[in-house]
Amino acid sequence: MSVKSVTAVAPGKINVYLRVGPLGEDGYHTVATIYQAVSLFEEVTVTESDDFSVRFSGPIDTSHLKVDESNLVIRAARAVAAASGFAGGARLDVVKSVPIAGGMGGGSADAAATLVAVDALWGTNLGAARLSEIAATLGADVPFALHGGTALGLGRGDVLSPVMAKSALHWVLVVNEEGLSTPDVFHQLDRHREEHSIEIETVAVDPAVDAELLLALRTGDAAALAEHLRNDLQAATLQLMPSLGETIEFGETHGALAGIVSGSGPTIALLAADENSATHLAATLVANGRKAMCVSAPVQGARVM
Ligand code: C5P
Repeated sequence: MSVKSVTAVAPGKINVYLRVGPLGEDGYHTVATIYQAVSLFEEVTVTESDDFSVRFSGPIDTSHLKVDESNLVIRAARAVAAASGFAGGARLDVVKSVPIAGGMGGGSADAAATLVAVDALWGTNLGAARLSEIAATLGADVPFALHGGTALGLGRGDVLSPVMAKSALHWVLVVNEEGLSTPDVFHQLDRHREEHSIEIETVAVDPAVDAELLLALRTGDAAALAEHLRNDLQAATLQLMPSLGETIEFGETHGALAGIVSGSGPTIALLAADENSATHLAATLVANGRKAMCVSAPVQGARVM
């Protein structure tokens, strides 16, 4: 008898806008963020099995990733089994292309691809709304990896509304060998805010998004968007990894309209005027010894192939 398997993909993301409110009692900060899914994908193949296991492969080094029950993809698959009453398991094979601990939601994309893949493999048909609820229990960025496109995230980043983004934007990602831990970056921001509470603007309890940024996305005006990119985690990320400041500056003096730290970093997202300019910028960065790649955005969320 042949063994059934299903393959799904889910995109990595960048945050073109991220305002961070105060730390709540649940250990999370309220945020107002605009996510954009980019054309760099994680691929997960799930195969019928009696128990749960995960293996990683792909173009990036995955040797240090834990493959025990604490792994987010196993937790994602188990959550679908629990929600549907399904009694079996699955072997989960993940091909990773999104940088690990890079601020691009790679682990969240793995979880989102796993949710749709096991739901299809097992025929549990939980539906988009239920999968999205499960996604939010796995991590703040997981619902967005399911959803894809361009979206506003409120709450922890998991309360999503779609945002109109008409035409394709071209980004150059500059990837770092070393990763940064998301909790470490949020802690650094809290420390910085405590130490500089007099100088910095009052932290909004309910952060909101910039209307001009939404307009720039709607009209596909890259030059206007460049004026309104914002990431409140950027200062904290640069304190933990000062060399990133040079990367942004290098990008901005070699053709990027603007550069920003993606999420909690350390990946840098450089916005290009068009596809040609992105290709040229990436080549310049690579010639300068940096690891860079071109992506376009927005792209669809998690889907079965
Ligand atoms: O939900 P996720 O596992 O992605 O979050 C990782 C950590 O990042 C949280 O435990 C928290 O420390 C921090 N975080 C936060 N506020 C958010 C999202 C994440 O403080 N909105």
